[in-house]
Amino acid sequence: MSNEMTQTQLLLELEQVVEENLNRHIGAAKEWFPHEYVPWSDGRNFDGLLGGEAWSPEDKQMPDVARSSLIVNLLTEDNLPSYHHEIALLFGRDAAWGEWVHRWTAEEGRHGIAIRDYLLTSRAVDPRDLERLRMQHMSAGYTSAHSEDLLRSLAYVSFQELATRVSHRNTGRITEDPIADQLLARIATDENLHMVFYRNLLQAALQLAPNQAMRAIADVVTTFAMPGTDIAGFQRKAVEMAVAGVYDLRQHKDSVVLPVLRFWGVFDLEGLDAEGEQARTELADFLENLETKTLRFEDKRDSLKARLASR
Ligand SMILES: [Fe+2]
Ligand SMILES: [Fe+2]
Repeated sequence: MSNEMTQTQLLLELEQVVEENLNRHIGAAKEWFPHEYVPWSDGRNFDGLLGGEAWSPEDKQMPDVARSSLIVNLLTEDNLPSYHHEIALLFGRDAAWGEWVHRWTAEEGRHGIAIRDYLLTSRAVDPRDLERLRMQHMSAGYTSAHSEDLLRSLAYVSFQELATRVSHRNTGRITEDPIADQLLARIATDENLHMVFYRNLLQAALQLAPNQAMRAIADVVTTFAMPGTDIAGFQRKAVEMAVAGVYDLRQHKDSVVLPVLRFWGVFDLEGLDAEGEQARTELADFLENLETKTLRFEDKRDSLKARLASR
């Protein structure tokens, strides 16, 4: 592309939008306290140093898929130091960009704290397994597929924050525990505000550099993967979660990808050059194909459920 904007130009041009959205975010985000969401009096000492009771699956009744989803969602939150590293490198730590980086990190930190406190007091999952998985997951770290690319990163996090919102919300529902549901609904509200911030930034970028932004959106949508994909046993857990309706292709397409694309008005945008049009065509083709895949998945899930019900 001939007149592409550089990363530095984009950062500078978007600075004002970051500041406006940071202020809007701070006005919209309600203060909340993780300790209020945790059923502390349900907690008991564990075996080991304090000589309490070893964990047992009978400690807390909960569907297995809910336990898996809670673990995936918590480990995803746990990798925050790596995410912070990625966005601090890309956005910088100065002025409004830096203020956002730190504020966002502080909010995300609350999510991992609250979910872990809940899991340990409620004894919903094996604490030894959980700690080993955390060590393994965080030791591997996380590298964004779009490091050093501002527009792709903004597009990615717009979808990813919304995906996280859906996943937390639906995990809460399937726990069959009103306390978990309440906590995860609260976290989901935060994720939604994060999505709004990034979505507004990319919308401004679409005005500033429409062809470049369209290419970024197409690349991100067609290669999208959640940040937890390298959690041990992720594939199996992701399938269980999809079957249980925590996060499946239908939600990905209709509740995550399409609403954000619609907000940006990508299919109404005028004045794209040939490369911008090419990116938009790739995006449209991908979405058509995604609908076919989604219908196929739903068919398979329906027959699986019918088989299970007839047993
Ligand atoms: Fe989070
Ligand atoms: Fe978030």
